[in-house]
Order: sequence, then C-alpha cells, then structure tokens
Amino acid sequence: APERSSTALPLIFYGRIIHSTSRTEVTILSKASLGINKDGKIAFVETAHVSPAEAAKRHHGFGNASIIHLKPLQFLFPGLIDTHMHAPQYPNISLGMEGDLKEWCEGWTDPIEASYSDTSKAGRVYPAMVSNLLTNGTTTVAYNSSIHPDATNVLAEICKEKGQRAIIGKLCIETGATHGNMEKSVEQSLKDEQKVVEHILNKVDPKGELVLPCIQPRAGSYVSESLMSGLGKLCHNATDEKSGLRIQAHMCETPLEVSNMHALHPGYQSYADMYNHHGLFGPRTILAHCIHLTDRDIDVMAERGVGVAHNANSNTCLRDGWCRVRRLLERGVKVGLGTDCSAGYSISILNAIRQASNVSRHLAISTGDEKWVLKFEELVYLATMGGAEVCSLSDRVGNFETGKEFDALVVDVGLDDNINVQGWEHDEEAMLKKWVFMGDDRSIRKVFVAGKLVAGKDTEAQKSGAM
Ligand code: GUN
Ligand code: FE
Repeated sequence: APERSSTALPLIFYGRIIHSTSRTEVTILSKASLGINKDGKIAFVETAHVSPAEAAKRHHGFGNASIIHLKPLQFLFPGLIDTHMHAPQYPNISLGMEGDLKEWCEGWTDPIEASYSDTSKAGRVYPAMVSNLLTNGTTTVAYNSSIHPDATNVLAEICKEKGQRAIIGKLCIETGATHGNMEKSVEQSLKDEQKVVEHILNKVDPKGELVLPCIQPRAGSYVSESLMSGLGKLCHNATDEKSGLRIQAHMCETPLEVSNMHALHPGYQSYADMYNHHGLFGPRTILAHCIHLTDRDIDVMAERGVGVAHNANSNTCLRDGWCRVRRLLERGVKVGLGTDCSAGYSISILNAIRQASNVSRHLAISTGDEKWVLKFEELVYLATMGGAEVCSLSDRVGNFETGKEFDALVVDVGLDDNINVQGWEHDEEAMLKKWVFMGDDRSIRKVFVAGKLVAGKDTEAQKSGAM
C-alpha cells in the first residue's frame, strides 16, 4: 500500500540515496539524511552515521521537519532529464515509422504540427502529456513546440501549473516544410518568437523558477539566412542571467538534411559554422542528433561549448545513423539524452538509457572497437547530470549537491513485480541496474520538482481515495 507521510517542507529523507558524482561515478549512500529546506533546495546530505532526528537538530530551520524513512527496496534518485521532446507530436507516438526522416516529416509530422493552429488542441493534448512525463520521472524537459505562439504559450502555462521544469520556445519554420507547416514571413516568425519569450518571462514564470524561454530554428534547411540571423540577434539582445535565451535546433541528423542545409546556406565550411556565424552557438545551445558530423563541426562545437541531445530511439526508428557519443565526450562536448517523440516511440528516459546503451554497443560491434560502449555509470550520468549540463541547469539540478533544487524520485523496486530483485535485495548496485533496465512508472512512488511533490504512484493513490 502507498505510504502515508507528509511531504511538507522542510523535509528530511533518511535512507538510500543514489546519484552521479562524476561522469564515471555513481555514488550510493546506504544510510544518509537529505534535508530539503522551505525553498525546495537541498540544505544538507549527511552521510555519516547520523540519525535523521540528530540531523534535524544540527541544521537551522529543520527543528520541526517531517522525516520520511525510506524502506529497504526504496531509494532517492535525481529527476530524469529529457533534452529533446516534441510536444505537438505526442499524439503520433508509435505511428509513422515506415519511412526515413524526410518521409516521416512530410507524412506525419508536418500535418500534426500544423493542426495546432487550433489552440484548443494544445489545451487537450499538453496537460495529459506533461502529466505522463512527470509520472515517468521526467522532471526537466527541453520541449520543441509548433510554429504557433498561442499553442506554445499554453504549453508553457501547463508546465508551470503542473510543476515541470521546462525549456520552451516557438518552433521557427519558414521554408522546406509541407502541409502548410510554415510561417508567413521572417518578420512574423521573429515577432511570434518574441511574443512567446515575453509571455514566459513576464506572465508564466517571471522569477524563472521552472519555465525558461528558448528560441527554436527547426533545422538549417527550414530557416533562411535572414531569419537565422534575426534569431541570433534575439539571443544577443538577451544575454543577462535572467533573460539569457537558450537555443534548441536539430543538426546533422541525416546526410540529406546536411546537404539541404548547405543548399539553403551556401558557403559555410560545415553545419556548425552556419549556426555559429549567426550567433546561435554557445553554452546555452541544445543540438539534437549530431550524427553526421565533420571534424570541423566537432571543433566548432567543442570551442563554443554547445550541448548535444542524443536521441538513440528516434535515430534508430528513422534509420538516421548512430551518434558517436564517445567521440563527443572525448572532446568535452556536453551530452544528454532525449526521447525525440514522436520520431522516438517512448517518452521514458529509462528507455532512452537502454537505447543509448544499445546504440553504443552497435557501434562497438560494427567497428570492432569496445571503446564506443557506454558504461553503466556514464548512462546514468547522461540521463541526469549530462542532461542538466546540456540544458545549462547543472548549477540547479542533476544530482544531490547541497544548494541545488530538490528534483528527485522516490523509487521503490518492490512496487513492480517485473523487477525481480529476489536474491539481490542486499546488493544496492544490482537493485539500481534492475530498475534502470526493467523499471518504469510503476516503481516511481514520488516525483519532486523544486521540493514540491508533483507526481508518482503515491499521489495517484491519494487522488483515487486509496489513502
Ligand atoms: N527535423 C525536422 N523536424 C524534426 C522533428 O520533428 N524531429 C526530428 N527528429 N527531426 C526533425
Ligand atoms: Fe527532434
């Protein structure tokens, strides 16, 4: 039965705490006290043999804190981070996988994205989508939207209301798309993008607590030189900490996509040079895919500090190719995981971990070189800290460092009979691996964002009156 316990702040968790402490290290604290202050931030992690009551006494403001004791099959884990997801494509998940990227875009994606000119559709689709991602443990998402400012504003409002951390912008498409999935003019596109940015900064989340604005050129082949340059200027006009804009775009997904970019933007040495020329490359840039990269692309990416959203599921479904994650990591390029629904068929970041693991193994098989294999610790990192870095949020989320916001999951492998821990109950690493490779929302009891309980099996039970 779901446990009954107060999650009011301040709050102390006592028990097993698991998180990434470096790219190659997953730290498992067997008996720790983690304190969350009234602002939803991590005030302390006491790893020594300190009882939670003792920890409460030691830390200012925790005198009357509620205490949650985690059970033997439970652990705290950082909230999962999806660095690339297409909100309007949510109804299409699992459909349209017959074709390649071009066929899929024209046959499935342009029509459904265009349909959000009806803003009421956003009101029907987005609440269920955000709830489902939260239930599956995704606490931060970099969302791609459609070209419509009103539907995009609805997405931003719903994320704020439901308590999901999100990076959101209006998608810019001016050429190259089908089914009318394009904007009227460069001026319209820029005006609408600005409208969404201002709505988020002034109305949805003026303190920038959860929802952060970004600009979103779909990809090089969909945005002309003049719009690309206008979007770059939008970013440059907003470089201060509060309004500094993030950027999301697709890059080097298929060979055809790369050559289409060069046809529309002649004269650039590489894809990365084009984005970089327009001022769209920096530490706040999130690039989806990055499969068909030249050495020059990687040089520019490493120099500018951009991040990559690795979407192993969608890259396999559309037969795009394999992203060389090891090569990016070796060059110090930030990498996180994305679901890229609906080109990918699962909204779960646990699934993204498994797919990233398999793609890395396929690279090892095809090259005969083991170095491509992503180790378990690296996979956990990509799904949490790596994602936080890619989203420029590693000072706020990604692991349980003191001072960060408490974005976390209470995992309970005992809730899901599919996770056969029998015989391994006393092996903490085995328990973690079993959850990562076999678990899903059934084993997620509680989901916290910024210290607030926003989803999980316990909250569902509460709603249905079972508690
Ligand atoms: N290229 C242009 N649009 C898209 C999209 O929606 N998803 C993916 N994966 N690639 C794209
Ligand atoms: Fe995508």
